[in-house]
Amino acid sequence: MSRAVTMEKVVNLAKRRGFAFQSSEIYGGLASCWDYGPVGIELKRNVKEAWWREMVLTRSDIVGIDCSILMHPRVWEASGHVAGFTDPMVDCKKCKERFRADKLSDARCPERPSKRPGECGGELTEARQFNLMFKTFMGPVEESANVVFMRPETAQGIFVNFLNILNSSRQKVPFGIAQIGKSFRNEITPGNFLFRTREFEQMEMEFFVKPGEDDKWYEYWRERRLQWYQQYGIRSENLRLREHEKDELAHYAKGCVDVEYQFPFGWSELEGIANRTDFDLKRHAEYSGKDISYYNEETKERFVPYVIEPAAGADRATLAFLVDAYDEDEAEGETRAVLRFHPRIAPVKAAVFPLMRKDGQPEKAMEVLALLRRHFPVQYDQAGSIGRRYRRQDEIGTPFGITVDHQTMQDSTVTLRERDTMQQVRLPIDRLVDELKRRIEI
Ligand code: GAP
Repeated sequence: MSRAVTMEKVVNLAKRRGFAFQSSEIYGGLASCWDYGPVGIELKRNVKEAWWREMVLTRSDIVGIDCSILMHPRVWEASGHVAGFTDPMVDCKKCKERFRADKLSDARCPERPSKRPGECGGELTEARQFNLMFKTFMGPVEESANVVFMRPETAQGIFVNFLNILNSSRQKVPFGIAQIGKSFRNEITPGNFLFRTREFEQMEMEFFVKPGEDDKWYEYWRERRLQWYQQYGIRSENLRLREHEKDELAHYAKGCVDVEYQFPFGWSELEGIANRTDFDLKRHAEYSGKDISYYNEETKERFVPYVIEPAAGADRATLAFLVDAYDEDEAEGETRAVLRFHPRIAPVKAAVFPLMRKDGQPEKAMEVLALLRRHFPVQYDQAGSIGRRYRRQDEIGTPFGITVDHQTMQDSTVTLRERDTMQQVRLPIDRLVDELKRRIEI
């Protein structure tokens, strides 16, 4: 990869400019948990909004849902997570550290980092299965009867509501149910900033189809989902589809393909598109005793739908947009970072600057700010040279800069500068909102 971007640069910029901070930092931080700052939250909201628009708002065959994180414990028995959502773990009897048994070749002994666990002189225990679900207790009594799990995927909330959606909306198979929400996994090897964390947000959609039509829809969704990342500006050369080998497939899947992104640490999964067959609906039918099937009024057929699932991570997508946007160039003899976000993804759409702090320019610029604020997230900056102010905005990826100058005070026009081309046009203030909308809505 010939890009200037490294994870270190991205993490530093993210902290310096308010994209993301380590959770509980003043207490030394909580491993692999992150807080989004003022610009980061807008970036992530835009990513989720772009997904929701693509998957729900612009389609008549997909509806949304927002399920609770805590669910009946039987859900996780039916889904296979209680029995099967595990990693094999070994403990070192000497340093007491725990390692993934299947990833020992990538691990290092904390006491002798040049050695792998087991090669360092420490004796390893037999491998034991470790469940990745977080447990907590419901109600005032902490006993095993009250154990509930923090959901490890949002998908199960959709499956258990399949009948509710069928009965309350006018959807007919094929149709989908989409959800964005938090999931939790007690990952053993979290890391790479927002990439693998223990608390994260998923954007999942379960698309219910007639058995036999599943291969066709699987093809459809893998292409659509790859396009989505490209549409919002991720470079095609940094994206690829990777089909899973048979031995990689989850217990419920007939096929799965990952959308992968070329991060500075290598090609890694952004999203999985899986053919989950009728596994989940059948299991919930069996465990709940309910008839979870679909009746086609026209053909008089009854069947249990197959499910095609595009499952993405909101934090991973946010990280990919951040990394892909990162660029550096030379300005006034110094290297500066520029985030070349697609305007729809950019956290702040425009910044308003008075050229001078006198002659009524700041007051006029505040008027322009108030006008724009009704439509977009915008910022005001009057500190330092105009070049420095542009650079501050380039660092958070603001696509447009609007300057109020001497001429504005005479004819109510402003200059509009575009971040990437640095081209400036002059236009009347009363055309600004329409012009920005036109440029953002591409
Ligand atoms: N319902 C299917 C499912 O959950 P998954 O591949 O385990 O499939 C889907 O997760 C997506 O959720 C992943 O592609 C990734 O983007 C995101 N994800 C999973 N675990 C994550 C973690 N520990 N940290 C951040 N994102 C994660």
